[in-house]
Amino acid sequence: MRRRGFSFESRVMDREVTGIGIGLRYDLAVELLERRPETVSWVEIHPENYVDRGGRYQEMLDLARRDWPVITHGLSTCLGAVEPFDAGYLAQLGDFLRELEIPWHSEHLCLGQAGDRFFHDLLPLPFTEEAATIASQRLAEVRDAIGAPLALENVSYYAPQGTNGLAEVDFVVEVLERADAKLLLDVNNIYVNSRNFDFDPKAYIDKIPRERVVQIHVAGHHVRDDGLRIDTHGQPVPDDVYDLLSYTLQKVGAVPVLLERDNNIPPLDELLSEVDTLWSIYRSATEVTRAG
Ligand SMILES: [Fe+2]
Repeated sequence: MRRRGFSFESRVMDREVTGIGIGLRYDLAVELLERRPETVSWVEIHPENYVDRGGRYQEMLDLARRDWPVITHGLSTCLGAVEPFDAGYLAQLGDFLRELEIPWHSEHLCLGQAGDRFFHDLLPLPFTEEAATIASQRLAEVRDAIGAPLALENVSYYAPQGTNGLAEVDFVVEVLERADAKLLLDVNNIYVNSRNFDFDPKAYIDKIPRERVVQIHVAGHHVRDDGLRIDTHGQPVPDDVYDLLSYTLQKVGAVPVLLERDNNIPPLDELLSEVDTLWSIYRSATEVTRAG
């Protein structure tokens, strides 16, 4: 359903989201909005911080929108849940997204709720046909409710899967195809999972249908003393994740890349130096794609 005569597709033409973006997190926002670095091409926000809130958050968002396209990334509408969605929130979210004129919205392919209990972690789904059926139906339900293109994001996980399911990438592709959905491809999550569960991350990327990828996330992660990698978004992006990003961009082309940093936030200049590194990878990798 479209309201106010607005076409989401037209926004992509008007203010294209391209290149390197950064998360408009509260701890960074004042300096980011004052300095408005030209190397930052767009910003990402979590709508839960803004819907029905107003105040300082809304002021920051209004300031950001003067110069940057804004992309939204949800935290609370987990696409694999089986409990009914909060219809009131989805209606508010749809209104908020229309106001922002976003080209797509994203949510996680995970569980975040059991009964009336909400988790603060994004819990993985079983990689089964049954879960893929439910998640694809739920994704379509959310997409209809918000009236916007919807991308799912692949998540990190720490508990081993059973032996009778699909490989993670086959599960993600199954949901994408069944729901005819877009993909927010988090290469750090793939890298973390590949090290924790011993698979080839580049083989994962090779199986992704490139035409569905609308956005990429990169981040740093924590390595525990026992070797387990935890997706914290609290460290600089490691070289192996940069390498996987380069490989991914050569496959999918010039898809916008977000630097996710949500914890242990350093001075802005440190993040901007990571943004510079991302730009150099983005430019050289997408030149390879164009040449191919
Ligand atoms: Fe992510």
